[in-house]
Amino acid sequence: MKKITVIGTGYVGLVSGACFSEIGNRVICCDVDQRKIDLLNRNEIPIYEPGLQEMVTRNKEQGRLLFTTEVGEAIEASDIVYIAVGTPMSETGEADMRYVMSAARKIGEHLNGHKIIVNKSTVPVGTGELVREVVQANKKYPWIGFDIVSNPEFLREGSALSDCMNMDRAIIGSDNPEAASVIEELHAPFKTKVFKTDLESAEMIKYAANTFLATKISFINAIANICEKVGADVEDVAAGMGLDSRIGGKFLQAGIGYGGSCFPKDTYALAHIADKAGYEFDLLKSVIRTNQKQRF
Ligand SMILES: NC(=O)c1ccc[n+]([C@@H]2O[C@H](COP(=O)([O-])OP(=O)(O)OC[C@H]3O[C@@H](n4cnc5c(N)ncnc54)[C@H](O)[C@@H]3O)[C@@H](O)[C@H]2O)c1
Repeated sequence: MKKITVIGTGYVGLVSGACFSEIGNRVICCDVDQRKIDLLNRNEIPIYEPGLQEMVTRNKEQGRLLFTTEVGEAIEASDIVYIAVGTPMSETGEADMRYVMSAARKIGEHLNGHKIIVNKSTVPVGTGELVREVVQANKKYPWIGFDIVSNPEFLREGSALSDCMNMDRAIIGSDNPEAASVIEELHAPFKTKVFKTDLESAEMIKYAANTFLATKISFINAIANICEKVGADVEDVAAGMGLDSRIGGKFLQAGIGYGGSCFPKDTYALAHIADKAGYEFDLLKSVIRTNQKQRF
């Protein structure tokens, strides 16, 4: 049994927190949104995910899952602290890091013993190191140590619970093998494939995966536009292409383009990361442009 605190009880924080409690851990989900926490404490679930209501109720009743707005106290009560706050798109297209940084400050202020700080939010490469600096700068007790791990989330809204309980891979990035092993152990009941790497690569895997899927969507939409002009049937083309196991049939449905809460912001965010790193990511820019044109 591990003592876990999840900062941010949104889609990702709530689902992950519930699933970690389901496999036998004591989990505190905290949030600055009083309304959300009040709802959860009344057994009302702010999002609809099949099975989530039952899982939350069951684990609350067994004392393994708690909800609070007392973020500091929640941090102090755990050995593993997950950051699962939002990273929305800012006006310039970059990921807005203010919530992650505020969570990091709070962790520093309430670091009352060694903790593993795990980032689950989708964040630009280098954020793990930034979180380390912010925690370090806000520590009350200089002698207390901590580790940083990146463990990005891949759930899909609508099948989030089963994506978590039947997780097909867990990416664990850290520069400390011991911290990575603790997070690997936490995932053991999920019987999932674990891929361990360094912090930066784990952060990059999340963006690379989402932008690759977005690329498939923009690609088939571009093919659909050509099909219309030359008299081919894009559904048959996609079905035929998908038979090639190197390509696969998923994410080849032509339509109005990608949307939702992740692909638009993550494609823009990676384009910014590339710009900042001095790489002209023409392919990704064209994926974004193709998606924008597809709506009209
Ligand atoms: N929703 C998805 O399908 C999905 C899938 C994979 C990854 N992600 C990533 O996971 C992260 C979280 O996404 P989400 O959809 O759960 O976001 P969300 O907006 O649903 O939830 C974020 C929560 O964090 C809370 N919060 C903000 N600052 C806080 C603070 N300082 N202390 C405590 N709570 C705080 C907010 O009140 C909110 O309830 C994002 O980086 C997102 O890109 C989301």
